[in-house]
Amino acid sequence: MGSRSRTVFTNNRNGWNRLSWVPSRIWDFSARYTLMLLLIMGGMPQQLYLGRTSGQVLEMMGAAAAITWSWKPWCIWECCDKPWINVNNVTAGLDAVLSENLFGQHIVQETVSAALQGHLLNPNPPKPLVLSFHGRTGTGKNFVSRMIAESIYKEGLSSKYVHLKIADRDFRHASKLEEYKESLHNEVFYSAKKCPRQLYIFDEVENMPPGLLDTIRPFLEYRSYLEGVQFNKAIFIFLSNTAAREISNYALSHLQASKQREEITLQSLEPLIEQSSFGSAGGGFESTRLIDKYLISHFIPFLPLEASHVRKCIKSELLAHYIHSDDTEDIVEEVLRQLQFWPKGLEIFATKGCKSVTEKLNLALFKRHRKRKIANQEHSEKEL
Ligand SMILES: *[C@@H]1O[C@H](CO)[C@@H](O)[C@H](O)[C@H]1NC(C)=O
Repeated sequence: MGSRSRTVFTNNRNGWNRLSWVPSRIWDFSARYTLMLLLIMGGMPQQLYLGRTSGQVLEMMGAAAAITWSWKPWCIWECCDKPWINVNNVTAGLDAVLSENLFGQHIVQETVSAALQGHLLNPNPPKPLVLSFHGRTGTGKNFVSRMIAESIYKEGLSSKYVHLKIADRDFRHASKLEEYKESLHNEVFYSAKKCPRQLYIFDEVENMPPGLLDTIRPFLEYRSYLEGVQFNKAIFIFLSNTAAREISNYALSHLQASKQREEITLQSLEPLIEQSSFGSAGGGFESTRLIDKYLISHFIPFLPLEASHVRKCIKSELLAHYIHSDDTEDIVEEVLRQLQFWPKGLEIFATKGCKSVTEKLNLALFKRHRKRKIANQEHSEKEL
């Protein structure tokens, strides 16, 4: 924790907004209320209040303010409430989207929305929900995070209550560690102070500067309030490639033993992930005490994708482009041929999952288009 963030806490503890008998919210409201009154008075025609007693003017102002107040005009943008935040949409929204668009991830399907639901519908959860997503690139970690954001927040990832932090973009310079620590700490603290229902997504955790995540550790603990701020309603999601190899190897040996993919359980993978994340050096959470095992609510493994799943990705991508034609099968096979699979010789799992499907598909579609054009030209030349 940086020295300035400590000061922030001390100021808060002794400052006037910490007087326990006046919730800080009331101060907040009264400031808005006064501002609005001024605006209303300014906008009222003078004839309305000239020649009236001050009591009558006050009454009118009060009525006007009450009406404006009930409209919450500042909520045109986004507020910490319905309809901007929707805690009931997980079953209807998220479950449906995941079962339609996420392929080959039965564990994710079973655990993520159940965990979210349990957390969102509990009026007083014991601690924030902390999910740790593990798996190779292209297996759907980012997709699922985005869908979580979109199912809860009307504005999705661009909501001011959703904070996406990407290691390579936001924490690039190891020398600025202290700065990063402080700004991250302040961002989490002050956002949760404004609205307890926040979503923090940390992408590429394995590339975060060591020690950075320590700064948010206090917010993940088992308690409802910290310095008067409520953190237990927040959701933290960590995405990483940590343990991807262990998960892949497990899936491979499972398939090679001729067992069903759907028989792979969370219970069998969780210890592998924990061990790889915390056991040896080189894990993503290395040298940070933050992500002590017990602060993470669930480790969620994303399994490596097989050709059948990638095929579904390609098809759904084709549908998204409104392409329904007889030769979609050809295109799908063409795209599949462009992708790499491992292990060598067996070719079971897609190396990059569904990641480069869109690009390969665009290429295949363009090629087909060009071929047709040439064929048409030749055809018309022959006719001439
Ligand atoms: C519910 O979730 C779906 C999918 O995530 C989303 O598209 C939709 O906008 C959400 N509805 C509301 C009211 O938030």
